[in-house]
Amino acid sequence: MSKVLLVYASMTGNTEEMANLVEKGLQTEGVTVDKKDVIDVDLSTLEEYENIILGAYTWGEGALPDEFLDLYDDMETIDLSGKTFAVFGTGDSGYAIYCGAVDLLEDVIKEKGGKLALEGLKVENCPEGEDEDRSIQFGVDFAKALKVMG
Ligand SMILES: Cc1cc2nc3c(=O)[nH]c(=O)nc-3n(C[C@H](O)[C@H](O)[C@H](O)COP(=O)(O)O)c2cc1C
Repeated sequence: MSKVLLVYASMTGNTEEMANLVEKGLQTEGVTVDKKDVIDVDLSTLEEYENIILGAYTWGEGALPDEFLDLYDDMETIDLSGKTFAVFGTGDSGYAIYCGAVDLLEDVIKEKGGKLALEGLKVENCPEGEDEDRSIQFGVDFAKALKVMG
């Protein structure tokens, strides 16, 4: 069965909560999940996995969290073709660039030849109610996309 690396950054817990829900969705489909805080992930970790989900909150003015910057820079240096990704994040629509970190990560994945299995999922602050369900479904959908691709 497929194995997925799930990398997240979270300062106040919203994105970590979302990561837990995405993990739950993956697990219901029988996927083994290695969930890691981005501070524990480097280029060599990324290279070990074919299937990778990235989750980040947005900081500054539509920026990546500081703790994601090293990994982002590393991603810019390698060929991501052959890897399948999906990106999620939490943000606050009161800011000018809502969940910009999701767009930044999707852009580097595309630029470096990675495949995006799903459209990025953006959630307003803490995933509750419908957003909780959508987060679990995101994990389910990623697992299903992997099965379809074989
Ligand atoms: C200083 C600051 C800047 C922020 N900038 C943005 C932003 O540009 N766009 C956005 O969508 N959310 C922005 N946010 C909101 C956070 O991304 C949001 O609260 C998120 O859910 C926090 O995730 P976490 O609990 O995982 O740390 C900002 C929050 C703070 C405190």
